[in-house]
Amino acid sequence: LHIVHIAVEMAPIAKVGGLGDVVTSLSRAVQELNHNVDIIFPKYDCIKYNFVKDLQFNRSYHWGDTEIKVWHGKVEGVSVYFLDPQNGLFQRGCVYGCADDAGRFGFFCHAALEFLLQGGFHPDILHCHDWSSAPVSWLFKDLYTHYGLIKTRVVFTIHNLEFGASAIGKAMTFSDKATTVSRTYAKEVAGNSVISPHLYKFHGIVNGIDPDIWDPYNDNFIPVPYTSENVVEGKRAAKEELQNRLGLKSADLPLVGIITRLTHQKGIHLIKHAIWRTLERNGQVVLLGSAPDPRIQNDFVNLANQLHSTHGDRARLVLTYDEPLSHLIYAGADFILVPSIFEPCGLTQLIAMRYGAVPVVRKTGGLYDTVFDVDHDKERAQAQVLEPNGFSFDGADAPGVDYALNRAISAWYDGREWFNSLCKTVMEQDWSWNRPALEYIELYHSARK
Ligand code: ADP
Ligand code: GLC
Repeated sequence: LHIVHIAVEMAPIAKVGGLGDVVTSLSRAVQELNHNVDIIFPKYDCIKYNFVKDLQFNRSYHWGDTEIKVWHGKVEGVSVYFLDPQNGLFQRGCVYGCADDAGRFGFFCHAALEFLLQGGFHPDILHCHDWSSAPVSWLFKDLYTHYGLIKTRVVFTIHNLEFGASAIGKAMTFSDKATTVSRTYAKEVAGNSVISPHLYKFHGIVNGIDPDIWDPYNDNFIPVPYTSENVVEGKRAAKEELQNRLGLKSADLPLVGIITRLTHQKGIHLIKHAIWRTLERNGQVVLLGSAPDPRIQNDFVNLANQLHSTHGDRARLVLTYDEPLSHLIYAGADFILVPSIFEPCGLTQLIAMRYGAVPVVRKTGGLYDTVFDVDHDKERAQAQVLEPNGFSFDGADAPGVDYALNRAISAWYDGREWFNSLCKTVMEQDWSWNRPALEYIELYHSARK
């Protein structure tokens, strides 16, 4: 198959959240299964060009009055066409955040289709993502099916229904197949009015992570390479380095890590409660997060200052986006907490497991599909041929979080050997794209029938 992704986020060159991880890593996985994958991407001025290999001018074409220069390069081994419209739409120093984002990305989608048509491409599948590339679906069906792209089918993936519901609804109508990023989130949103008319073509496929991109045995940001064989030693070294780097007490304490965008979705009040609870239970806590909303950011700045004076040796909030530090936290933490109010899939719990950190999560969406409570989910795990791998809770209030966190921290204090074997177990589980990539390929084939 020839699959073309049209997307506006992509790790590591322009990543905002998990969508960027998925575009790159799904492409890599499908390509490894001998399919041909290209990504069409805006040529933002803020791209991290050090991650783009073999960047070369490819061609130039016109869409309306605008000249669009096309560059080609490789990102993590995947072929990417960068569209550079000469009207400055992507020279804004950011991916999102402009008043005319919908217009900018609508233009990009149209320009991408025009590029395929004028370039003589005949992809089997156009895969678009969320509201930002949703216009591909209807522009394609309105304007392009009768030209050179007769055999092409459109697959649309919802990563988050919270943003751009009307564009998502329209893409649901015009795409040949639609997916979202976990089975449980697919069920949770099935009754939504933009989804419910289209259930016959809607599927939940749980995301994977790229085991080469997230690999504690081959990671420049952590001190000692490790696999499940030396997980205890590797994580001990990472914890020490993390404590030193952040000025925390160098001590053998249970360390809870939180790596997140600080938004309503991620359970802000539960995060705050968990910080205090961990401290009460004599643990350490490291939060790496940034808030797009300045009020939330301010709130956390105040909390960080407060904690600095009351619990400076055991709590640190780093209120920014910091990829290298995230690696050290995944490696150094005993637990990664994800108390989301809703979570289409969630990648942090999967990355945590790859680094031998035990997830503590709220039972929702993809968190429910990937984390199986050691006390309650044995059978559910067995049905997936898995061992239980974490701690989870229902509800959206403080007692819920306490229920999971107390059991996690007690397990750490009271049963170190058992806890260490749990770290080994979670590390050995396969949360890569091995399985989900096959599901996507099957879906691509079924779209063509
Ligand atoms: P979402 O896409 O809803 O933010 P995901 O769990 O799917 O949530 O993906 C989040 C991704 O962004 C993960 O790769 C995580 O490591 C990363 N991430 C989130 N916040 C930060 C941060 N402050 N610094 C570095 N990486 C972050
Ligand atoms: C969205 C969701 C997150 C998901 C990611 C990648 O950002 O919030 O749950 O993991 O997309 O699909």
